[in-house]
Amino acid sequence: MGEFVDELQAIVGGDHVLTDPDMRRSHEVDWTRRYEGTSVAVVRPATTDEVAAVLRCCARAGVAVVAQGGNTGLVGGGVPRGAVPSIVLSMLRFSTLGPVDAEAMQVTVGAGVTMAGWRDHARAAGLDAPVDFAARDSATVGGAIATNAGGSRVLRFGTMRSQVVGVEAVLATGGVVGSLAGLPKETAGVHWPSLLAGSEGTLAVVTRARLRLVPRFDHTVTAFVAVGSVDDAVALLGILRRDVPSLDAAEVVLPAALELVVEHLGRAAPVTTPADGCCVMIDCADSADPTEQLTSALHRAGERGLVVDTAFATDATQRAGLLEFRDRITEAIATVSTAVGSPPLKLDVAVPVSALAELTATAHAAAADDGSQLIGFGHLAEGNLHLNFLDAGDPATIASAVLGRVAELGGTISAEHGIGVAKTPWLHLIRAAEDRAAQQALRAALDPAGILNPGVLAPELRAT
Ligand code: MLT
Ligand code: ZN
Repeated sequence: MGEFVDELQAIVGGDHVLTDPDMRRSHEVDWTRRYEGTSVAVVRPATTDEVAAVLRCCARAGVAVVAQGGNTGLVGGGVPRGAVPSIVLSMLRFSTLGPVDAEAMQVTVGAGVTMAGWRDHARAAGLDAPVDFAARDSATVGGAIATNAGGSRVLRFGTMRSQVVGVEAVLATGGVVGSLAGLPKETAGVHWPSLLAGSEGTLAVVTRARLRLVPRFDHTVTAFVAVGSVDDAVALLGILRRDVPSLDAAEVVLPAALELVVEHLGRAAPVTTPADGCCVMIDCADSADPTEQLTSALHRAGERGLVVDTAFATDATQRAGLLEFRDRITEAIATVSTAVGSPPLKLDVAVPVSALAELTATAHAAAADDGSQLIGFGHLAEGNLHLNFLDAGDPATIASAVLGRVAELGGTISAEHGIGVAKTPWLHLIRAAEDRAAQQALRAALDPAGILNPGVLAPELRAT
C-alpha cells in the first residue's frame, strides 16, 4: 500500500492523506458507534480534479472508496467496513458557498457545506433552506443528497431530492457528470440529481450541488400537543394540513421518548401525555403571524376531543426551548446507550399514515418480546417513525419482526437514513429480485471496478 499512499499524497498533498490511526479514528467509526472499520487512509481532496484523480488511483489499485461528509449517518454507510481495503474520502474541504441567486431562488454550494451553513447563507440573503434536521451543524449537503435526507420540513417542501436542481459529480472512472446550471426545465436524458439522490455514494461522488431556496418566514409559532392515541395524532394532522397553510413541521413523539429527553434536559415536560397517547410538535412559519391560524385549528381539534394538553411558544427563546424536546431526543438516546455500553438498534421506517398506529403497536410488541425499551419519535406527515430499541437483546429478531410488518403495511424499511449496511438483509422486503438486479447492473456500468461503497445497498458487491 506504500506506493498507493504515495500516489494519493501526490494528488492531494501530504497533509491531506491521514494514515495515522489516531487521526483516522473519528472517520472510521460512525455516530452510533455500532459501525466501524479500518481504512488505508483518510483522503481530503479540495477540487473536483483531485477527486477524479483519487478515484482513478483507487480503481487501479482495487481500493474501495467510502465518501464521507459530517459522519452523522446512522446506518453504517459512511464508514469503512469488512476486509476490503478502503479509503475514506472526506468531502469537508468542499466548503464553498456560491452567491445566492435571489431571482432563481438557487445557490451552488460545495458538498462539504453543512446543512446549517446552507441555511444560514440563504437566510443572510432573505431566503431559507427547505431541508432541516437535528444534525444540521455537522451533516453536509453531499451526505444529505446521498441519503435523500428528509427532516422536519418535508411536509412543506419535500426531501433533499426535490431541492437538488443540479449536481457536479465524479464517476468511479474519474469522469465528471452533471450540470450546475439549475435550469428548471430541461429534457436531455439522464437527470443526475434524481439518479444520485439516495444512491448512498454507490454511483458517483457529488462534489457540488445547485440547490433550491425557499422564502424565509420571519413569523413562527410552535406548539407541543398531547393527544390520546396515535390515531388521534393522525386525525389532528388532517386538520392541520387542511386548515393551516403555514404548517412547517408536524413531528410525533411517543411518551417514552418525551420522558427520556425530559430527563436528559433536566427540565419539566411541556405537556402531560396519556400512557397510550403521544405528542405532536407543530411548527408554523409565515410572512405574517400564524398564531391565530394555529390556535383556531387546535380549537377545532379540541372540539373533536383530539387535544389532551397543549404548550405554546411564540417568542424565539420559548420556541427554541420547546423545539429541544424534539431535536435532542437522538442525543438523549446516545447518552443512555453509551452509559449502558450498548448501541441502540435504530430502525427508520415509514408507512402510510393510516397504518401508523399499527406500526407503533408492532414496535411495542417487538420491544416487549425482547425485553428492550422502545424510544419512538419521528415525522408524522410522512408516517416516518424512528424506532430506537435500547439495550436490545436480539436486534436481528426485532428488526425482522418490525421491518416485515412495515413491508406488509405498504411501507419502507428506510425513510430517510438510507439502507447503508444496516438494512441490506431486509432490502428484499421492499425491492423485488429484478429491481435489485437492475440496480446492480446500473452500478456495475458506472463503476466497473466496484470501488464505490461496496457492501452498501447490496452486501454481495465487493471491490475487485
Ligand atoms: C431525526 O429525525 O431526529 C433524525 O432522523 C435522527 C434520528 O432518527 O435519530
Ligand atoms: Zn428524522
